[in-house]
Amino acid sequence: MKVIGIVGSPRKNGLTNRLVEAALRGASSQPDVEIEKVYLIDYDIRPYTGEGSSCPEELNVKCEESAAIVLGAPIYWGDINGLTKDFMDTVRIENANGKYALGICIAGGTGKGLLSGIQSIYHFFYHRQMKGIDPTPVSRFNFDESLKSLYESGKKLVKLCREKPYRFENLTDRIEYYESLPYMKRSFIDEIYMLAGQLIETSKSEKVEEARRLYLKAKSLLEQDRTIEAVKYVVEAYDMLYFQ
Ligand SMILES: Cc1cc2nc3c(=O)[nH]c(=O)nc-3n(C[C@H](O)[C@H](O)[C@H](O)COP(=O)(O)O)c2cc1C
Repeated sequence: MKVIGIVGSPRKNGLTNRLVEAALRGASSQPDVEIEKVYLIDYDIRPYTGEGSSCPEELNVKCEESAAIVLGAPIYWGDINGLTKDFMDTVRIENANGKYALGICIAGGTGKGLLSGIQSIYHFFYHRQMKGIDPTPVSRFNFDESLKSLYESGKKLVKLCREKPYRFENLTDRIEYYESLPYMKRSFIDEIYMLAGQLIETSKSEKVEEARRLYLKAKSLLEQDRTIEAVKYVVEAYDMLYFQ
């Protein structure tokens, strides 16, 4: 069985590469698995021109021949980068229905955009009828933890391919599945709230307890659906630790 890892960042030795690598290592820890990593920057990927697939045929075939796909992208201004999007727009995978896929995005600066970015990747999986599992939005603050979880997701990908081959029967089926995935319905406040929580977990700043108090105040407001009132507390907690 083959698993392909696709690195969407033009920087071959960046964070996206490390994350995709972690998932591939997990996959290759299982018996009889062949892994291959490709860098989109090595291919002549052009924007869609309206004339069939402009994705290099070699990439189409590699995806078709793989039982599962790992796709990693960097976040630029709150979304996946253009190279990854051009790949998603143009790749043609004839046997995509039910193909297991794992999406990863890394917002390696402020962390903002990690949720909108992961949603873009899973929207692609949804539209192409692939079966996306374990959406993994990554920031600098949950990076090490994500490396570990991706190793496990890589293993899981192989087990699912072997034990639960899948095919979506209809749109209802597909929407029901994608509605059940985490992170698909999150907004601006959810994102900064998540990042503030990550900073509180990992920061060594002496202001952690003060930030935690603000965070818990925001949490209580969010639980009462007082979303707009919660914003300033979350942002204050995030800024307090981010700018340390
Ligand atoms: C044009 C551009 C826009 C960026 N926008 C964001 C952003 O919105 N949020 C963020 O957290 N990081 C942002 N970054 C930082 C990248 O996400 C970060 O450098 C990431 O590590 C890139 O992945 P790579 O290391 O695999 O290249 C941006 C970087 C560039 C070049």
